[in-house]
Amino acid sequence: MTAAAPLAVGTAPGKFILCGEHAVVYGRPAIAAPLFQVQARAAVYPDRECVVAAVDIQRRLRVAAAPDDEPLATIVRLVCAELGQPPPPWRIDVSSEIPIASGLGSGAAVATATARGLLAAFGVELPAERLSALVYEVEKLHHGTPSGIDNTVVVYGQPVWFVRGAPPQPFAAGAPLHLLVADTGVASPTRLAVGDVRRGWEADPGRYEALFDGVGALVTQARACIESGDAPALGALLNENQSLLAEMGVSSPELDHLVAAARQAGCLGAKLSGGGRGGNMIALVTPDKVEVVRAALQAAGAKKVMRATLGRNTNRPSHREDDAG
Ligand code: MEV
Repeated sequence: MTAAAPLAVGTAPGKFILCGEHAVVYGRPAIAAPLFQVQARAAVYPDRECVVAAVDIQRRLRVAAAPDDEPLATIVRLVCAELGQPPPPWRIDVSSEIPIASGLGSGAAVATATARGLLAAFGVELPAERLSALVYEVEKLHHGTPSGIDNTVVVYGQPVWFVRGAPPQPFAAGAPLHLLVADTGVASPTRLAVGDVRRGWEADPGRYEALFDGVGALVTQARACIESGDAPALGALLNENQSLLAEMGVSSPELDHLVAAARQAGCLGAKLSGGGRGGNMIALVTPDKVEVVRAALQAAGAKKVMRATLGRNTNRPSHREDDAG
């Protein structure tokens, strides 16, 4: 957008939920990891007043004039309030490779990158816990009752065990786990799926509480499998999680189709990831099956297939091709 060097740049990764989505809104644990293959970026330049430019959609917002519930202006205001500073005369160019409404944490990543760019331009660092709390405020604008898992995993940039209201626990895998993340190409705002699950829970709390308990139990077992490196047992748990999510009503024909294709091609387990109804699914694979499952997903209509490895202990953004931490 401009040839001049920026004052500062902030970035943030996407994320995927390994298991536990939706039930995590109701206090059960979930496991998520960053997805460094797709990132959001914010570059800060001097300007006459404080402006945020959403480069991908060619939208320019004056922070002083933006509505109270505008997510980009909100994160700028929150960071400035945190530092006791007025909005500075800077333009923040925000761009993102993360598809929106796809379950990959685009909202949290864009807000985190914007906050990081601003903080770097002010020359200030915030503890992860504080930054995550600010991004959580923006998440509430995207959907009313977020669990906080998206802002947590995006800000911490590590696989996390997450329980709503408790400090996140970063944890390590006992052996590398190989995953494919495939996009149905169907945009599905998280807020709609979360709202429908809430209505289902209100109408039949007993049934939904039992589904959430089932998810909570399998997530606890999944953590033990990840720590011991037992990929086949983890795969079975992901399949079980997919069944429970389908019973909650958040799968879709497109997701079911990709899940079936991955299973038929020999993955260890597959499920939707994130809010569901569309967006992305994940498949756990052995290294020798990566290419055959990738080809099956593409043949079944996946719009994009990314590879992620959990537990290589190389959790740095430079490992963009194949690294979830
Ligand atoms: C969205 O990434 C995950 C959900 O569980 C919603 C949330 O935790 O806020 C569907």
